[in-house]
Amino acid sequence: MNIHMVSVVGARPQFVKAAAISNVIRDGNYNIQESIIHTGQHYDANMSDIFFDGLGIPSPIVNLGVGSGAHGLQTGKMMELIEKNLQDMKPDCLLVYGDTNSTLAASLVAAKSHIPCAHVEAGVRTYDRKAPEEINRVVADHVSQILFCSSNLSVENLRKEGIVDNVYNCGDIMLDTFNKYISISKSKSSICEVLGLAKWDYYLATIHRPRNTDNKDNLFNILKALEIADKKVIFPMHPRTRAILADTLIGENIIIMEPVPYLDLLALESNADLIITDSGGIQKEAYWSHVPCIIVGLVPEWAELEQYGYSTLSKPITQDILKSIDRLQKNRHMLRYKDGIYGVGESAKVIIDTISKRFAHA
Ligand code: UD1
Repeated sequence: MNIHMVSVVGARPQFVKAAAISNVIRDGNYNIQESIIHTGQHYDANMSDIFFDGLGIPSPIVNLGVGSGAHGLQTGKMMELIEKNLQDMKPDCLLVYGDTNSTLAASLVAAKSHIPCAHVEAGVRTYDRKAPEEINRVVADHVSQILFCSSNLSVENLRKEGIVDNVYNCGDIMLDTFNKYISISKSKSSICEVLGLAKWDYYLATIHRPRNTDNKDNLFNILKALEIADKKVIFPMHPRTRAILADTLIGENIIIMEPVPYLDLLALESNADLIITDSGGIQKEAYWSHVPCIIVGLVPEWAELEQYGYSTLSKPITQDILKSIDRLQKNRHMLRYKDGIYGVGESAKVIIDTISKRFAHA
């Protein structure tokens, strides 16, 4: 009898991660049947559908259609509906990814329903409890039974909190998807031609984290830096940021776009001279693309990247960001990209092998 595994996803970066898992299950000869629950946290076509279509992820068995809302409302609705669905589905285990409200809701329901939960991207810590993601990842780690970490540092972070059993350093699952699609992106994405962008001619920016968007001073400081940066800035804009900016006039140096599909994002990343972001996923993709990256925030999520000098943390202050751009430009010739910090891109295989053995029916 097959192991029934339910993967719960809801937000854009989770689709990128889920794609790697679904690929391995589809291509391998595993005793696992996967059902996907989509919470509906992200619902715009360019935040959700284009990822399912573009990355060949099987259609969700159900979309809970939870949508946006305050944290309690959104997480509560998700919990209610995930619980109802799991009662009918009776899975052997749950798989959750990252640190979104969908991760929090699903892992809590699993714990209360006594369904073993595996958390992918476990052990990431910023120790900034004001960030919703930090709360989500701490709770998910502490209620999950299997912890799949992206790096040694994440394993160490869990150890400091007393979590040592069933912890695996399987490398970073986003690298699986990156490796599979980077060459396809080079041949198939025409976004740079369409936008008239030559390699290294521009900076790429993405900003969506509440601490950078909901505080308007921070957001305007960041925009000011992008407006006077020494290269034009391509800015695919998250709906949260767009809603906050509404009809604010943006300087000509910034080219604002709708969120783009994965292949186009990889093309924009790998041709950029430098990336300015607060996204956890994009800072890792910058490193895999060997493009220097400025992380706008107060604490690093992927501290390894800062430690090795591939990214620089910058406060949401105009002069700080401009100084970081200048510093990274001056030092870029000294950067030697060391492979392997996040494994070799076979994370999904380790995860599925582990689950396949752990839950094999007697
Ligand atoms: C969520 C995650 C964050 C992750 C990000 C990836 C949490 C707490 N945060 O942040 O960790 O980095 O996803 O993108 O779970 N909106 C739309 N259409 C959509 C989705 C969102 O218009 O399809 C707008 C709504 O105004 C919504 C806002 O974006 O209120 C924020 O969406 P939400 O899902 O609450 O959080 P994200 O900022 O996307």
